[in-house]
Amino acid sequence: MATSSFETGSALTHLECSACGRKHDADRLQNLCPDCGKVLLARYDLPRVARTLSREAVAARPRGMWRWRELLPVRDARHVVSLGEGDSPLLPAPRLGARAGLKRLLLKDESSNPTGSFKARGMTAAVTRAKQLGAKALAAPTAGNAGGALAAYAAAAGLPAVIVMPADTPSANVMECQAFGAQVVKLNGLISDCGKYVAGRKDREGWYDVSTLKEPYRVEGKKTMGYELWEQFGGRLPHVILYPTGGGVGLIGMCKAFDEMQEMGWIGAERPRMVAVQAEGCAPIVKAWEAHRESAEFFQNAATIASGLRVPGPLGDLLILKMLKQTKGTALTVTDTEMLEAGRELARLEGIFAAPEGAATAIAARKLAASGWIRPSDNVVLFNTGTGYKYSEAWQRALQA
Ligand SMILES: Cc1ncc(COP(=O)(O)O)c(C=O)c1O
Ligand SMILES: [Zn+2]
Repeated sequence: MATSSFETGSALTHLECSACGRKHDADRLQNLCPDCGKVLLARYDLPRVARTLSREAVAARPRGMWRWRELLPVRDARHVVSLGEGDSPLLPAPRLGARAGLKRLLLKDESSNPTGSFKARGMTAAVTRAKQLGAKALAAPTAGNAGGALAAYAAAAGLPAVIVMPADTPSANVMECQAFGAQVVKLNGLISDCGKYVAGRKDREGWYDVSTLKEPYRVEGKKTMGYELWEQFGGRLPHVILYPTGGGVGLIGMCKAFDEMQEMGWIGAERPRMVAVQAEGCAPIVKAWEAHRESAEFFQNAATIASGLRVPGPLGDLLILKMLKQTKGTALTVTDTEMLEAGRELARLEGIFAAPEGAATAIAARKLAASGWIRPSDNVVLFNTGTGYKYSEAWQRALQA
């Protein structure tokens, strides 16, 4: 038994299938639903958290994502594998806002996380839980940043990691994985091919698969972005959130956080309108959204410099599309040229050197403001999901042009 000083007070109770609703044990290693093969989500004793946890108590704790430990999946603080993730700044972007005709434009800057992206939030939760439940080696396909984060957290956990990535992944991502001691496999293909590679070998090799949404806890880490926003807005939520959507984990995670908050009585039924921003060269969600479909089709010949958005067949398509609908959100594309131009503007006007994925949300906000979908006085949050420093190939080309 853990002593009370180490207990996190986690209210985790079980896992629930997002499709068939069946309950599963949260205290064994799980991937997809054993009954129907769909995404499992973590569930908590929220009435207990509502009775025992206050915003003031969370605010008084040392900084970082694990401040929300009652709502996270680990029971003993000694098991947390942390590199200091979370509590990213919410920065005003007044000059960029003025260009778009928006009075209250803010940017949640996730580049301050370990390994320079929001992927750290998901991986601290997933690696913590995998190690605690007995995984001996970890493997994942990656578009880039998730691989770097997994390699770092696996190193911090003392576990081997196998990272499978497209051969043309930004060199900084390859380098960081190698530096962290992971085994790097490069394939001539897309993240979907890398996913098949992991799936085909994991049982034989004894790897635990931490692919996007194929284990339940990366969503849990990423949901803390939603809790932080609520705190940073003084116990309220913004009107609009623009999120660069690849696998959609952050979008799903934030919406899950908002549902949990409502169940705890921290907010009402109001929701920010969620906007999925994708690249014109890889837009399965936007295509499905525009066709009013509930699921997305595989996007052929996916190509974009925003490597994190090069996800042609996201596993969470049903959840993403449902959440866009429930929050009265929308989905739209931007081109690579627009992304890079918006990135230069973001850097020049606000001093933020963003990943192209983050820059994509800036141009998307301007388009939605121009069409009247976003009102000038709305509180609007852009997500800069990663640092621009890791995209030297793309930025060098853009800055020389
Ligand atoms: C910088 C960046 N932004 C956005 C994404 C997409 O993230 P999600 O899977 O949460 O949609 C990625 C994924 O690789 C990324 O690296
Ligand atoms: Zn199921």
